[in-house]
This record gives sequence, C-alpha cells and structure tokens, in this order.
Amino acid sequence: MNVLVLGSGGREHALSWKIAQSSMCEKIFIAPGNSGTKLVGENVDINVTDFEAIKKFVIEKSIEMVVVGPEDPLVLGIYDFFQQDKDLKEACLIGPSKEGAKLEGSKEFSKQFMEKHSIPTAKYQSFTKTNLEHGYAFLETLSPPYVLKADGLAAGKGVLILDDLNEAKKELKLMLTQSKFGAASDKVVIEEFLDGIELSVFVLTDGKDYKVLPSAKDYKRIGEGDKGLNTGGMGAISPVPFADKFFLEKVEDRIIKPTIEGLKSQEIEYKGFIFIGLMNVKGDPFVIEYNVRMGDPETEVVIPRIKSDLLNLFKGIADGTFGEKDFYVDQDFAATVMLVSGGYPEAYQKGKVISGLDNVENGMVFHAGTKDDGDQIVTNGGRVLALTSFGRDIEDATSKAFANAEKIESEGKNYRKDIGLDLLKQEA
Ligand code: AMP
Ligand code: GLY
Repeated sequence: MNVLVLGSGGREHALSWKIAQSSMCEKIFIAPGNSGTKLVGENVDINVTDFEAIKKFVIEKSIEMVVVGPEDPLVLGIYDFFQQDKDLKEACLIGPSKEGAKLEGSKEFSKQFMEKHSIPTAKYQSFTKTNLEHGYAFLETLSPPYVLKADGLAAGKGVLILDDLNEAKKELKLMLTQSKFGAASDKVVIEEFLDGIELSVFVLTDGKDYKVLPSAKDYKRIGEGDKGLNTGGMGAISPVPFADKFFLEKVEDRIIKPTIEGLKSQEIEYKGFIFIGLMNVKGDPFVIEYNVRMGDPETEVVIPRIKSDLLNLFKGIADGTFGEKDFYVDQDFAATVMLVSGGYPEAYQKGKVISGLDNVENGMVFHAGTKDDGDQIVTNGGRVLALTSFGRDIEDATSKAFANAEKIESEGKNYRKDIGLDLLKQEA
C-alpha cells in the first residue's frame, strides 16, 4: 500500500524508516520531510496543516495509510476531516479524533478526563481571569514548588514551576491577564508538584485494544546534569531500568486500561499513539500529561526496538484486526543522542554544512533539522540529527551513540554527553 507520513523531524524519519521496511509498503511519501526521510521515501512539499492539499495528494497517489507525526494537525481535527470526506474513505488516518486530541490540546480537558476515570494524577484546579483571586487562594493551599500550566498548546513552553508563592501569583496574573502564552494561557491549570523520576510510556490503540510500546526517558534540558533551558529533547533511552515488570503492571492497571476504557465510555474515537508522561513517585505512577502522538526523540529509541511490522499493526487498526496482531520488542537497550545547532534552544544559525555522515558505525542516523543544499546536507533547525545505537546495557548503547556524535562535523555542533548517565546507577 502507499503511505503518507506527516511531519519533518527525527520522529517522522524513524517512523518512515520503520514503515518502509514492511513488505506491505509499496511507496512511502513524507510531507514535508527532511534530508533523511528522502533516503527511505519521497518528500512532498505540503504543510502538515494544509488539509485540502493533503486530501488532493492522498487521492492523486491512492494513499491508503496516513500517519500523523506532530500534534498540530490532530488538534486541528485532521482525523475528523478525513472521516467526513467521502472521497477520503479509502484512507485510514493514524491519529485521534479532534475530541481525543484534546487530551494534549487542553490541560483542563485531560485533567477532567483523569479525574472522571480515577487515573492517578496531581491534584489540580483551573482558573480564568474572572476568578484570578480564587487562583491566588488555591496557590496558598499548596506547598512549593508551584506548578502552573497554560491550558492550550504552547510549543512545550506553557508549564512554569516556581518556588516562591509571590512569584507564582505574579506569573498566574501574567498568564491570565497579559496573555503570557497567547490564547493558550486564557485558562491556567494549577497543580500539586509531584516529586519523583519522570519517564514515558507509549501505547498504540484502535480505541478498543492496545499494545504497550517500550518505555523511554528523555533529557529535556540543554545542559549536562539537567541544567539550563528546556529543549524539545536532547536524547533518550529505552527501556527505562526502573520501569520494571511490577511498575509497568501498575501503569497498565491504573493508567492504560482506565484510559482506553475512558475513551470508549466517552465515545471518543482514537486510532493512534498515546504518549503518557509519568512521574514515578516512590514506586507509584502518576500521569503528568498525555500527548496524542509519539515523542521526539523518544520515537528514535522506541520505534527501532519494535520487532513487529508497524505497517501491519496500522493495517490492523484500519481493518479491525488490531487486537489479534502479535507484538514483539527487542530486549536490547537503545540510546539516542541529539546533535543540535550552536545556540539552540535560543537563537541559532541554519545552513551549516554537515559532514561525516558516512562514518557512522554501529548505529542509525535519524535526521531532524536538515535539508539538501545542492550536493550537501545542511542544518535546518535547532535539533539536527538523532544518533541511535543499540547495546546490551545503557553504557554500551550510549558509548556507541557518543562515538558517532564525534564523527559528525558541523560548525557549532553541540550535544549532551551525559545521556543515560543518571540511569546507570539504577541499572546496576
Ligand atoms: P508538561 O508539559 O505537562 O509535560 O510539563 C512539562 C514538564 O514540567 C514535565 O515534563 C515535568 O518535568 C514538569 N511537570 C509538569 N507537571 C508537574 C507536576 N505536577 N509535578 C512536577 N513536575 C511537573
Ligand atoms: N520529547 C518530548 C515530546 O516529544 O513532547
């Protein structure tokens, strides 16, 4: 079958790399893609939120499977757009309905969903500018640090964690009355701080059955030792050693099952990935957030560990046989190290020539922000390349990925040399 993947990052390169390995894949297109996705399929110059252009292309190329990488088209309702158009009924779209995408698009919706289905999460209340004073009063009932979340999508920047009560009140006011995060902060969720270690678990579902994908931990800060500004993610490890069988059983019983049951009982159509951000609080899992897509760079470690044919799983979602499909995962560890542009996540330059890609050994290169410039590949974003390697343990996997990071040259390149280091102690 012909497949279209929407997106242009390392996540989409990893997804299309995996799909292209399926014997069922005739042709794969990536819109808009990058220099790496060109190696596994054909890039198409279409914006991921231009639904009419996507429709035209799907019909023209007889696409049967559309896999949505980023959240924006999902939150804007691309699933419903496909469902409602009779010319698109031959195509299956992997992603939730617009209602399902609210699990990521609205923090308040996701908190209400968790409350309704008794899914463990931090205690919370939400506020608008009309009840700012109540927000102050709620803050006073909490102990620091204070967690403030813009309700809507804010490009990963809408969460503030503050130690000081007065600062928390000031920021709440800025969010609600001065549109600190634009319309996304017209409503703010204030929640209890969860003290623990973070990890993520991923689920693929057709809305009835589910497969639990490998766990992963990402490294969000720019600096080593988790210091400095937040980024999209500087690296990832899978599996997470402390997410052992007992912990994952708790996640499945307390979180995954009630989430799928909740979707069913609220009649929310959901055919896609659920990314569950978790906090391990003294051995008990709590949900920090839902995302309605795969993570980036988590995809670059999770997807390579899946042994099963991903396109066959998607086909099962399309034809109602998903629950019967086998699902296998490689037991080895995977690590990915993200090479980023000098200056990122603040201002950085694009167009720097990348060399040494052919020298990579014992690993894979997933392109994130790259593009072709004549015969050369140049940087085209903050996060440039994800270097993934397998190993018998975390040290083995990360040492191969770090070695590859050294082999690639690009002016100003930067990467974190401590990916996975915090987990080594737990692994022993
Ligand atoms: P979110 O966008 O909801 O994932 O939040 C961004 C980051 O803020 C998370 O990855 C956590 O590191 C942190 N965070 C969010 N909510 C909480 C919470 N209730 N307690 C502690 N940390 C949190
Ligand atoms: N790595 C975090 C995310 O994709 O949201």
